Amino acid sequence: MATVHIPDENRTLYQPDVMKQYLATIGIDYEKWKPAHAVAANAAAEDILAAYAPEIDRLKASEGYVTADVIDVKAQTPGLSEMLAKFSREHTHDDDEVRFIIEGRGLFHINPTNGPVCAIEVEAGDLIRVPSGTLHWFNLCEDRRIRAIRLFKDPAGWSPNYSASGVDESYQPICFGPSYIAPQTVFAQ
Ligand SMILES: [Fe+2]
Repeated sequence: MATVHIPDENRTLYQPDVMKQYLATIGIDYEKWKPAHAVAANAAAEDILAAYAPEIDRLKASEGYVTADVIDVKAQTPGLSEMLAKFSREHTHDDDEVRFIIEGRGLFHINPTNGPVCAIEVEAGDLIRVPSGTLHWFNLCEDRRIRAIRLFKDPAGWSPNYSASGVDESYQPICFGPSYIAPQTVFAQ
């Protein structure tokens, strides 16, 4: 399950409904797709896309996405650091950034127009939609592993437009990790 951390308010949201509701207020769509479809650890991209075809087709129909692919990176991926450096500075895209996480984890920082910066840690089973024009940046977690389905309205629209604000430098890309136990006290807003 994803977590949402709001550093400026020293607040973390763990409860799915609370998190989803908060993200909606800043324009970010979040869904948990379950049950997960059976996909082998080394499944080919075509097999992953076939397994999740019902969910992909639903989003294409409702949101206008026309293509889907699978991104698969791990710590050993050649050029990974250079690739990550492109997206770890604040930027927008002309297309939505849509990711459904199959394996691994990642950290999206969102800098909304109507609230403080928040960090969304996503993991397997999480779908996140960052609308076009939203200021954000992305980091992998310590294990530098992510495999995710991406959806596009126009693949050409998914290049970064940098803000050069430097806001990203004020936030540490810290992941809690899958073994993190949420304090019970934070379940109440
Ligand atoms: Fe991005």
